[in-house]
Amino acid sequence: MDLKEILEQSKEKINNCKDINVLLHDVKSSFLGKNSELNKIFASMKDLTNDAKKEFGKQINIVKNEIEEAIRIKREELERIDLENKLKEQTIDGTLPYRKTTEGAIHLITKTEQELCNIFTKYGFQLAEGIEIEEDFYNFTALNVKKNHPARQMQDTFYLQGKNENDENYLLRTHTTCVDARTVIENNIQPPIALISCGKTFRCDSDKTHSPMFNQFEGLMIDENLNLGHLKFFLKTMMKEFFETDNIFLRMRPSYFPFTEPSVEIDVGYSIVNGQIKIGGNEKWLEVLGAGMLHPNVLKNMNIDSSKYSAIAFGCGVERMAMLKYGANDIRQFTSNKIDWLKHYSFGSFCC
Ligand code: DAH
Repeated sequence: MDLKEILEQSKEKINNCKDINVLLHDVKSSFLGKNSELNKIFASMKDLTNDAKKEFGKQINIVKNEIEEAIRIKREELERIDLENKLKEQTIDGTLPYRKTTEGAIHLITKTEQELCNIFTKYGFQLAEGIEIEEDFYNFTALNVKKNHPARQMQDTFYLQGKNENDENYLLRTHTTCVDARTVIENNIQPPIALISCGKTFRCDSDKTHSPMFNQFEGLMIDENLNLGHLKFFLKTMMKEFFETDNIFLRMRPSYFPFTEPSVEIDVGYSIVNGQIKIGGNEKWLEVLGAGMLHPNVLKNMNIDSSKYSAIAFGCGVERMAMLKYGANDIRQFTSNKIDWLKHYSFGSFCC
């Protein structure tokens, strides 16, 4: 058989093939395998002169490539037909009722974060995504916490071994305030800005009320003429909607955070009813939030003109908010994976 005949025969066989397994095993090996005509021709080349070998070898390779290409095209065609057939067989009847399952539910943290996010997105805040393994710059320096600043000791940080290009160790973010800095700086955005973010944060701290991993919810608004009154409005609105009562009292106490000036801690009024905390009224006070007006240095680091714009910011613990609303009373339970606790404090995926 000569090369032309081999090519014609193989193309005919390939084109007529209807089964992908036959194509990839029988057909392929009969034309390209050890015992194929092509291989025999290849072996017979040893008696040719060098120049003739070169020329003939080229032609053999052209034929070989053409056969391979034909197999590839046929393979794609057969795979497509196979997929179409499978899809035809597996059509879904959308009129069937869904199978009710008790497996899988929304965790209390997820539910609480969804509720908090829903409140703020209604007012036009956008949800920003951060990263848990952060750089020193966004977690500290951009937020006015310079190297050797005593405020670094306020938050016991988990440092990782890996370093960035500035030879600084990566760290597990200690708060979600770094999401504000990263989002504004990385995206180079200008006011008006209204962001929220939430997620895991980490501190080297563990006892009854502290967990080395906990969640925070964070808010930031930058615009002209913002003041503490706006902050109080948003926080009161958040508390009213979250705790589903109009009877909300907030108390601002002066505090210190390096990234805000002035800084405040915010307490919410509560009372004890049947031995349980009930948010509302102004009988007793419970600290729930850190907040303030963003420090001009932070605005500068965000490339925002602090003579023109001001910013309100706040952060709170999601576990704390969840415990106050739903009555869970041990922060360690959130990650204990105890099935009874999870069943009691979980929500079906269809409730909102
Ligand atoms: N990042 C602070 C913390 O983790 C909480 C906080 C305080 C966030 C004041 C803010 C703020 O945005 O303005 O303790």
